Amino acid sequence: MYNKVVVIGSLNYDVCLKLERLPEEGETNFADSVEYCSGGKGANQAVQAAKLGLPVYMAGCIGEDASGDFLKKTVEGYGVRTDYLKRVPGNSGMSVAQSLYDGGIRASVVRGANDCVTRADIDALGDVIDSETIVVFQLEIPLDTIIYAIDECRKKNAYIILNGAPAAALPEETLKKLDLFIVNEVEASFYGNTQIDSEETAVREILKMSKRLGTAIIFTLGKAGSVVCAGQKTQFVPSRKVQAVESTGAGDSFIGGLCYGIVKQMDLFEAGRFATCCSARTVCKTGGQPAMPTLEEVMEIYRGENG
Ligand SMILES: Nc1ncnc2c1ncn2[C@@H]1O[C@H](COP(=O)(O)OP(=O)(O)O)[C@@H](O)[C@H]1O
Ligand SMILES: [Mg+2]
Repeated sequence: MYNKVVVIGSLNYDVCLKLERLPEEGETNFADSVEYCSGGKGANQAVQAAKLGLPVYMAGCIGEDASGDFLKKTVEGYGVRTDYLKRVPGNSGMSVAQSLYDGGIRASVVRGANDCVTRADIDALGDVIDSETIVVFQLEIPLDTIIYAIDECRKKNAYIILNGAPAAALPEETLKKLDLFIVNEVEASFYGNTQIDSEETAVREILKMSKRLGTAIIFTLGKAGSVVCAGQKTQFVPSRKVQAVESTGAGDSFIGGLCYGIVKQMDLFEAGRFATCCSARTVCKTGGQPAMPTLEEVMEIYRGENG
């Protein structure tokens, strides 16, 4: 039914400083180390799908700077096709994080080139999106472009996944055109307009939201697991018990895993269990894209419980 994935979204050059304490106002202090990573929700989701062996295209914008070269090369190294990645004047998207040893983290994101994805770029995708394509969106590129692109993908009868992150107000008609809406518990609280912080509240709210929108929905609940709602049925999928070291990219890995499940014609509940295994492996290593598992690595734990 579905044989490839097109991710329309963001790529960010992530700079992560490790330090003992944050500098005071007016102070410059030393950080202990720095890591440079290829990130952005779009790129992360594309990389996870590619690491699982799916054909994946990443559509979006990078700047004409050195980090643009790095982002393009890195995702290509994971097997993501970049035919529809456009270079624009100025800087690539970027994030700078200050990460403390006690787990505290502060980060700022520069939208940069991610803000340059236009309706014309969607039109330029042409026939690469068809009724056998899964198209994946997040909300780190202009909302106007996303709303337009969802309309276009609906006309082509593609399978449309929207990861509503970071949370932003979207027209109800747009949400109604999705095949799958996926958000974490913080975003779910925003879209549901009520606090969602437990399995109980998640199960109650997801069914309401799903009835209202007429689409399948998944709420991910961090290390508790996730709730999947499809065809008026709701199932809680507990997370896999693992020695987690860092949760970067957990949600993005989950979405890459869902794409795999959908291509393999699993129902959404089964796809959710597969995706849970992808995330479980991702949180056991530091970093986003480098931590994401290959199909073989996922299968080691997925087979354990699913024959
Ligand atoms: N500490 C953990 N141990 C095992 N699995 C985890 C852990 N944290 C997250 N996960 C898995 O990753 C999925 C997505 O994580 P979540 O934090 O909800 O997403 P996001 O990264 O978007 O905030 C969860 O549904 C769960 O299956
Ligand atoms: Mg989370």
